[in-house]
Amino acid sequence: MGKSGAGKTSMRLLIFSNYTANDTRRLGATIDVEHSTVQFMGDLNLNIWDCGGQHKYLDNYLNEQKENIFGNVEVLIYVFDLETTNKDSEYVLYDECLHSLATYSREAKVYCLVHKMDKIPDAEQKEHTVEQYRRALAKRSDLFKPEVFGTSIWDYTLYHAWSQIVYKLVPNMATIERHLSSFRQLSEACEVVLFERATFLVVCSVGAREQAGAAAAALNKYMSVSQSIKTYRYTCGQMQLPFQNIEMRNKRYSLFIEPFTKSTYILVVTTDPDVEPAVTKANINAARQHFA
Ligand code: GTP
Repeated sequence: MGKSGAGKTSMRLLIFSNYTANDTRRLGATIDVEHSTVQFMGDLNLNIWDCGGQHKYLDNYLNEQKENIFGNVEVLIYVFDLETTNKDSEYVLYDECLHSLATYSREAKVYCLVHKMDKIPDAEQKEHTVEQYRRALAKRSDLFKPEVFGTSIWDYTLYHAWSQIVYKLVPNMATIERHLSSFRQLSEACEVVLFERATFLVVCSVGAREQAGAAAAALNKYMSVSQSIKTYRYTCGQMQLPFQNIEMRNKRYSLFIEPFTKSTYILVVTTDPDVEPAVTKANINAARQHFA
């Protein structure tokens, strides 16, 4: 949900339909609601409702179609265009959406994306802007405690936000995380990450990251990997070359990205020179069945 031109369709197509950021420049306004169903992590179906943000549609969602739009919602993702010229009317619309959500889906989770962050060049200013939204939104929503992310289709921030959203939707995440952690120890890897196969969103990551701030830095690194792989896979597709796997080795580490289960890719990084790359690959092969 969000006003027209905020970037809702762009992010959906980038994440779920292999669009590039450039492709989104040609998009027209969404007519009413575009429904799509995405198969995620094997048997999880994500039903995504992309609600066109033109006034006539918004009026309709908040009146005649209220129950249909806001009923049975698991997650509401509200997209704010940070270039908006009228923040107050944006907040009014947001309040109305949350009011309807409270009536029909009290248990829903709310995420707010402060979008088009690429328009702010300075990193400190970016953080300041997101913080301003965070404070303003925290004051408005009593029932829902929205998580706020700064995003842009031009960098990994969009993957970061969507990975966090999806992480909360996968029901057995704690089990996956526990098993992945055992796999990391048994294979003497330092970092292991699971990516969803179609979207390359990060679903789970484990690694030795004891120092403060290291976990956040690692997550940002994985999001950059997500974004790069998607771009690379897109280029492979354009050249009609199959994307299979990636292997990188130097004196400090070995890195493998391999198809894993039918719905995931795995990234494994080892730094111990005594762990032979062939052994790591054999371990990945052996673990495949366990995770299938
Ligand atoms: P409606 O369908 O009318 O509700 O609009 P929408 O929210 O779906 O917006 P849409 O995705 O069609 O994007 C509008 C324009 O914003 C397009 O030209 C996109 O290329 C552009 N856009 C989307 N995301 C970003 C972003 O992160 N940064 C910048 N600079 N432009 C973006």
